[in-house]
Amino acid sequence: MGAGKSTLGPELAKRLGRTFVSVDAVLEERTNVSVADLFVERGEAEFRELEERVATELLARRPPAVVELGGGALASERTREELATHAFGLLLETTPEEAWGRVAASGRPLARDLESFTALFARRRALYDDAADGRARDLDGAVLAIAGVRVAPGLARDLRDLLPGTGAVEVVVDAGVDPLHGDTVRAAIGSRLSASHVVPAGERAKTLDEVERLWSALRLDRTGTLVALGGGSTCDLTGFAAATYLRGLPWVAVPTTLVGQADAAVGGKTAVDLRDGKNLVGAFHWPARVAIDPELLATLPEEELQNGLAEVVKTGLLAGEKLWELDTAEQVRRCAVFKTGVCLRDPLDLGERAQLNLGHTFAHALEAASGYSLPHGKAVALGLLAALRLSGLDSLADTVAGLLRPERAVVDRERAWAALQRDKKVVDGKVRLVLLDAPGRPLLGARFDPETVRSALDALIE
Ligand SMILES: NC(=O)c1ccc[n+]([C@@H]2O[C@H](COP(=O)([O-])OP(=O)(O)OC[C@H]3O[C@@H](n4cnc5c(N)ncnc54)[C@H](O)[C@@H]3O)[C@@H](O)[C@H]2O)c1
Ligand SMILES: [Zn+2]
Repeated sequence: MGAGKSTLGPELAKRLGRTFVSVDAVLEERTNVSVADLFVERGEAEFRELEERVATELLARRPPAVVELGGGALASERTREELATHAFGLLLETTPEEAWGRVAASGRPLARDLESFTALFARRRALYDDAADGRARDLDGAVLAIAGVRVAPGLARDLRDLLPGTGAVEVVVDAGVDPLHGDTVRAAIGSRLSASHVVPAGERAKTLDEVERLWSALRLDRTGTLVALGGGSTCDLTGFAAATYLRGLPWVAVPTTLVGQADAAVGGKTAVDLRDGKNLVGAFHWPARVAIDPELLATLPEEELQNGLAEVVKTGLLAGEKLWELDTAEQVRRCAVFKTGVCLRDPLDLGERAQLNLGHTFAHALEAASGYSLPHGKAVALGLLAALRLSGLDSLADTVAGLLRPERAVVDRERAWAALQRDKKVVDGKVRLVLLDAPGRPLLGARFDPETVRSALDALIE
């Protein structure tokens, strides 16, 4: 009571693309009596029974909705069971004082004076803690909690609460990251750790050969969990191995690059590359948890930070906010919040998620043509320029060029063009691209003649 559910609930539903329903509002609608009066007229026991019936019904709704439960609803065992089976329980964190500030003047029957209110708060606390699958203090925090994403400095040193299940844990770590952060993270996993596998640094890990090596080395059973420790490449590889090994195991991403933290570890896309194209083999497999620890970026070379800035700029253009002006930890958090929202609304990439490909059709073509020696961030920087120019936003393209300073790629033009045509976005001889109407207003599915796209691609090549 007084945690701010009725304000945050509808906003959260909008972010998730779901409907919002409140148990109290449904009760009032059905009985034509206010909840406060209902409570007094019928007495608490009967009120709780009515409440339980409505809560049970709403929690079973498909597609799922954001359901606001009344403050006392968890007293019902049935409601607690329904919550555990059907729902993600989000606890809105508050203190008795904050909550009292919101309800003091409301005239609610259980909010008559601060002392009894505080006692009630303390009595209910354990039930709330038990029912909570995640916790948040505000809207952004709620979006992250629901997606299993945690952003906190120092998080990589304390992972135990975060690992799903109770089985063994095996770590997959980038060869460049292993000597820097491997021991810290293995220690943070503790006694559940059963093996650690080192994979090639960076993009070279994203091959079917590496997946096969990993499949053969894994000893987990179906209670096990994989942990990815590295940049976007390690996360993509590990997520794909987790999606396929034993027909699917849970995995946890611990991203160590700016690309990984701001983008790759969030959203559940996993993949490896084929010679002819990026990410052509993969799976949607949402990580059980994403542990984003901005402190891990301290060892990242300047060049890799600059690569990551390309995804931050992409996200800022889509969100219509100058995210690149924030400090790195805040960049990471805001990018993760934005991408999480998009991916929760469109997890399987059937609609608005396509916006995240801004600049990427060009980027992937350049990466494939370079034999994957061109880093993803550098390719994205070039791709953004092409996308902004085709959007007719030349001055924004100049701003982005100033921020990211991309150099033209040294790759074979024919090979890049062949890769672009093999990308997943070519339909009926037209190339479909994501453009920008204006910052914050992506334009999906713009169709272009091949010649126009080819000359935009050529302009990115030395
Ligand atoms: N799945 C998605 O949604 C998604 C989104 C964006 C990018 N990606 C993919 O991510 C990949 C790019 O990932 P990336 O840019 O994170 O780079 P990366 O994973 O290829 O790593 C780049 C280099 O950084 C080193 N490194 C990583 N963390 C370090 C640290 N903390 N300190 C020092 N060195 C460190 C690695 O050893 C490697 O040499 C691409 O394959 C791209 O397609 C996927
Ligand atoms: Zn990208």
